[in-house]
Parts: sequence; C-alpha cells; structure tokens
Amino acid sequence: MMLLHHPGENDVKAYKAMEQAVAEGKIRSIGLSNWYVEELEEFLPQVTIKPSLVQNEIHPYYQENDVIPYIQGLGIVVQGWYPFGGRGHTAELLGDLTISDIANTHGVTSAQVILRWNLQKGVVVIPGSGNSDHIRENLDIFDFELTDDEMNRINALDRGEKHDWY
Ligand SMILES: NC(=O)c1ccc[n+]([C@@H]2O[C@H](COP(=O)([O-])OP(=O)(O)OC[C@H]3O[C@@H](n4cnc5c(N)ncnc54)[C@H](OP(=O)(O)O)[C@@H]3O)[C@@H](O)[C@H]2O)c1
Repeated sequence: MMLLHHPGENDVKAYKAMEQAVAEGKIRSIGLSNWYVEELEEFLPQVTIKPSLVQNEIHPYYQENDVIPYIQGLGIVVQGWYPFGGRGHTAELLGDLTISDIANTHGVTSAQVILRWNLQKGVVVIPGSGNSDHIRENLDIFDFELTDDEMNRINALDRGEKHDWY
C-alpha cells in the first residue's frame, strides 16, 4: 500500500502516477493521508481508483467524529495516526483520569484502552513504539471490550486539539 502524505499542489497528478503503478502491478493498493471531508469531496471525482484507506490524526483529544463516519461511509478504511497524541503528548493522554479509570476497571493500561476505543469505532490504529514491552502490550487488546458508557466517556474527551498540521 502506498499513501499520498497530504494534500498539495499536483496531488491529483501524483495519485494518478500511483494508479498507474497499481495498473502495472508495482503496488497493490493506494490511499491518502491528512484528507478531510472538503478535500475528499474535491479530490475523489478527479481520480479513478477509490483510496483503500485514509490515514488521519485521531486520538481522544482530537477525535474526528464528523470525518470518520463520512470516510467509512464511502467504503474507505480509516486509520488513525498519533493514537497517544504523538511524542511529547503521551503523558497527558496516558495519564488522563477518565482513561486511567476505565483502564483500572478492566485491569489493562491506558494505552490499551485508547487502542481498543479506536478498534471499536472501526478505526485501524498505528501506535509507534521502540519498546518491545509496549509493542506486546499494544497488540494485546483483543480480550476485553469497552462498554457503550465507557466509549461515550472517552468520546466526551474530544477538545479538537490537533497536534500536527500538513
Ligand atoms: N500520516 C501522517 O501525517 C502521520 C503523522 C504523524 C505520525 N504518523 C504515524 O503515526 C504512527 C504513530 O506516531 P507516533 O509514534 O509519533 O505517535 P504515538 O503512537 O501517538 O506515540 C508514540 C509514543 O508513545 C509511546 N508508547 C507507545 N506504546 C506505549 C505504551 N504501551 N505505553 C506507554 N507509552 C507507549 C512511545 O514510546 P516507546 O517508544 O517508549 O514505546 C512513543 O513515545 C507512526 O507510524 C507515524 O509514522 C503519521
């Protein structure tokens, strides 16, 4: 899979080159990153292959609750980057009292709660880690489930706090 990193000059031309690479069997699937509703509405009519995936910033403080259903409704997979807020912001998110409280209820970590929250929203999530214990922990999220109330408590943490712009 190859993604176009962000909207910009000649992005349609770049995407068409990626479409050509698919036709030639050089890559299997293509997608976009940092595309939101307005950008998608303008971009999609200009290209042939529907993106398989759109990768955007998503974490409890920046939830994209209007964008996610729109993209999923197009039959495109949503993937979230910076699930823990990104380096420099993880202490705040992993130390968030609501998230920690939910984690304690399930006997898991705050990181696992955030990843599970994504999963239950149908969002593919890509945490970054150079620590093998964290990587194992981040994979171990399939034997507990957040309740609707817990999902709603995390949904209520949204404060439109974006941590990077492109
Ligand atoms: N498309 C885009 O525009 C875009 C922009 C930014 C990032 N991304 C992608 O998004 C992915 C994630 O980005 P990121 O790594 O910068 O941010 P992140 O996943 O939000 O945070 C990574 C930080 O969380 C820590 N961490 C990971 N697992 C943990 C755990 N279980 N417990 C405690 N701390 C934990 C890591 O430290 P340790 O190493 O110590 O575990 C690291 O400092 C990457 O693949 C990146 O390339 C994409």
